[in-house]
Amino acid sequence: MTTYKIAILAGDGIGPEITKEGLKVLEVIEQRNEVNFEITEAPFGAGAYFSHGSSYPVETQKLVDEADAVVKGPIGLSHEESKKIPIDELPERGALLPLRKQLNTYANYRPVYLPKSLAHFSPLKPEVIGEGIDILMVRELVGGLYFGEKELGTDDSGKRFVREVLEYDEDQISNILHTAFKLAASRKGVLHNIHKSNVLKSSVLWNEILDEVARDYSDVEVIHTLVDAAATALCLNPAQFDVMVMENMFGDILSDQGGGILGSLGLMPSACLGPNNRAYYEPSHGSAPDIAGQNIANPYSMIGSMAMMLEYSFDMKDEARNIWNAMQAVFAQGFSTSDLSKPGSGVTMLSTDAFGDKVVEQLKQG
Ligand code: IPM
Ligand code: MG
Repeated sequence: MTTYKIAILAGDGIGPEITKEGLKVLEVIEQRNEVNFEITEAPFGAGAYFSHGSSYPVETQKLVDEADAVVKGPIGLSHEESKKIPIDELPERGALLPLRKQLNTYANYRPVYLPKSLAHFSPLKPEVIGEGIDILMVRELVGGLYFGEKELGTDDSGKRFVREVLEYDEDQISNILHTAFKLAASRKGVLHNIHKSNVLKSSVLWNEILDEVARDYSDVEVIHTLVDAAATALCLNPAQFDVMVMENMFGDILSDQGGGILGSLGLMPSACLGPNNRAYYEPSHGSAPDIAGQNIANPYSMIGSMAMMLEYSFDMKDEARNIWNAMQAVFAQGFSTSDLSKPGSGVTMLSTDAFGDKVVEQLKQG
């Protein structure tokens, strides 16, 4: 029997509701495998600021340090509610970025996955979706503009200015590129490199290092695409992409577009991986305060994030696959939730917990 310590940071808004469904799924996995999940929940996010005076309390930081894996729910409040929190304690800046830094999770995997049977969720035409969408976006997560020096100031003439630094060193770039090349080699042998070298020097260095790293992966074909053109191509012909690699800010934007072509960010789980098996897993979307507490949010992104944890942190690839299959089967049986589907669209609408129960039921059969 192997014991894994999992820190659960359920977060804000719909976070606790969808996390609860993920935990039900983990129980099934625990029951039928030689594993024991030691689960500890801890405050993180805007709620933690109000209850503990910090959006990332010291006790939570310690728990994260000791955990074998961390699962994090979405964080944040509505625009109005956010104003009650000092700017540096806002959960994005005060909790999420420090968590990424702490675990050095430089590699963010964001699958943009839609089998043909779920094409109805997408706003794209069936002929554009073709046989389905299966993209793995690989986003550098601890560098670039997010972590560069920042200054908001006023110059001598009284004019306000801002300065934010986009910084990468060659190790940071080569680490994420090695990760992406390995993933490309294990899939279709094609790597789409997303950059903006016609304007940004950071992309010039990125591409230079890419050429060096590419020598270790002669079996992988590299296709270079400018980030703006990639945004268009994602809408017009998403099926051409497989593994896409990009720096932090490009990855933030294009991965949200990934959610758009699937039909919802609710279909976007993710894995954030660092060195020495340090990792945390999170849905790529926000806390959806407008629908929080209504038991209507689809738990797919959270259950999918936990499946990614099984695959990447605990080497349980088969069970991860079983979870994906169970979720796809529940959708294919015509079930959905009202955050994903409109009334009258021919689906049977379930609540968050009823959807979780269906996934559990399916997983037990599979
Ligand atoms: C994401 C989110 C975060 C980011 C926010 C919440 C800081 O949008 O994970 O994509 O920008 O990285
Ligand atoms: Mg984002």
